[in-house]
Amino acid sequence: MALRKVRIMGDPILTKKCRPVKEMTERIKELIDDMFETMYQEEGVGLAAPQVGVLKQIVVIDIGENPVVLINPEIIETSGEQTGQEGCLSLPGKYGIVTRPNYVKVRALDEDMQEFELEGTELLARAICHECEHLEGKMYVDKIIGELQDVQEEQDDQE
Ligand code: NI
Repeated sequence: MALRKVRIMGDPILTKKCRPVKEMTERIKELIDDMFETMYQEEGVGLAAPQVGVLKQIVVIDIGENPVVLINPEIIETSGEQTGQEGCLSLPGKYGIVTRPNYVKVRALDEDMQEFELEGTELLARAICHECEHLEGKMYVDKIIGELQDVQEEQDDQE
């Protein structure tokens, strides 16, 4: 395992659409391990492959409950609404207020390329939406209500 360099907003790779993963390889397994290691090191709750410079549809999420890998994720259901703070490892030291669905159901492949569905509410729903948008080349800053804010001190989770 190794840490990977997190790309910062302004890097063109963060605006590109990612390609689906067609088959699991040793290289992709290593990428996923590295993404987890990098996310934990940076104290994030989610990380998408383009954030470490790889244009593949892979995200890792861990909101403190259990680690999840989503390969080729597709959000298939949303409901409700939540409005709250959101940050991103590709924009360190900043956060903004973003409205997201309060419930999300996502269909994806796991590390064995087996299809599964995951439901999330609150922070998990927010993280799923945020990370899936990275795969489309989008960042949360386009959705913020009001201004981007500076993180004052030890701030909570960044995605
Ligand atoms: Ni992010």
